[in-house]
Amino acid sequence: MPEGVRNWEALLAQGRTRLEQAGIDEAPIKIRWVAAHLLGCGLLGVLRHLAEVPAPGAVHAFEAALVRLETDEPVQYVIGETDFMGVRIHCDARALIPRPETEVLVGCAEAFLRDRPGTPVVADVCTGTGCIACALAQRIPRARLLATDLSPGALALARQNARALGVSVEFIQTDLLDGIAEASVDLVVSNPPYVATAACGRLPRTVRDFEPRLALDGGSDGLRVISRLVEEAARVLTSGGRFMMEIGDDQADAALEILCTTTPFKIQTLRSDFAGRARVATAERTKR
Ligand SMILES: C[S@@+](CC[C@H](N)C(=O)[O-])C[C@H]1O[C@@H](n2cnc3c(N)ncnc32)[C@H](O)[C@@H]1O
Repeated sequence: MPEGVRNWEALLAQGRTRLEQAGIDEAPIKIRWVAAHLLGCGLLGVLRHLAEVPAPGAVHAFEAALVRLETDEPVQYVIGETDFMGVRIHCDARALIPRPETEVLVGCAEAFLRDRPGTPVVADVCTGTGCIACALAQRIPRARLLATDLSPGALALARQNARALGVSVEFIQTDLLDGIAEASVDLVVSNPPYVATAACGRLPRTVRDFEPRLALDGGSDGLRVISRLVEEAARVLTSGGRFMMEIGDDQADAALEILCTTTPFKIQTLRSDFAGRARVATAERTKR
């Protein structure tokens, strides 16, 4: 290879060194992720291209990505996408990056909807990128999907995701379930902000400095949005309807207490994430 010309292997090695020198965690996987994005292949597919010399445009794009990664910007924002439930979700700073634990929530919602005949009405509250609503619309096309968020930027991104996936979701800018009629929804599903305000400042820099504060901050005890959401869900759900919510890994007791003591819910399950921590609470709306 002529001097000064770098193949993908050299580019990846240099990128990795630069990120490690900048103190960035998980440098090898982030570098590989960028390369996969530029090559249009999967993470393993990158290995097949190591000996190739990338086009100048790809080298330029790779360098630009490195500059952003060196600031600890999340790789999903840098490449503009992530994988959620096996589909591509566009990501940028307008909304939280979809997390693997949220796939557990979608799994619970999907199982409930499969047993619900007709056209169940689903409200995805705090929709962000729209990942939950889009995944459910894809899996259960007969359902009617409503999705709400306070943030106009997040809703614009969510609409873009629904269009790209060819699914039908009604996006609504509102506070939680404001404006949704009483007893009109069969399933309320939500991943609300649940980090205590003080803890937001202690999150890793890659989260704290880049993901929207509105998506994270759950108030002084982390339960402020959750408490309001539980009340609102009780209002809009039909008798026998379901409420499914993602919670923080230390919030199981508090969430159960909110659900049991003040509202007409019967707890169904607490489901764990892939690391075995209780992360999804599901409850049934009792008869009115
Ligand atoms: C934790 S993120 C979840 C995003 C997405 N559902 C996911 O699972 O990746 C929470 C979202 O709630 C929105 N949000 C915060 N407070 C809200 C409120 N009072 N009403 C509606 N949406 C709200 C934020 O804008 C953010 O998009």
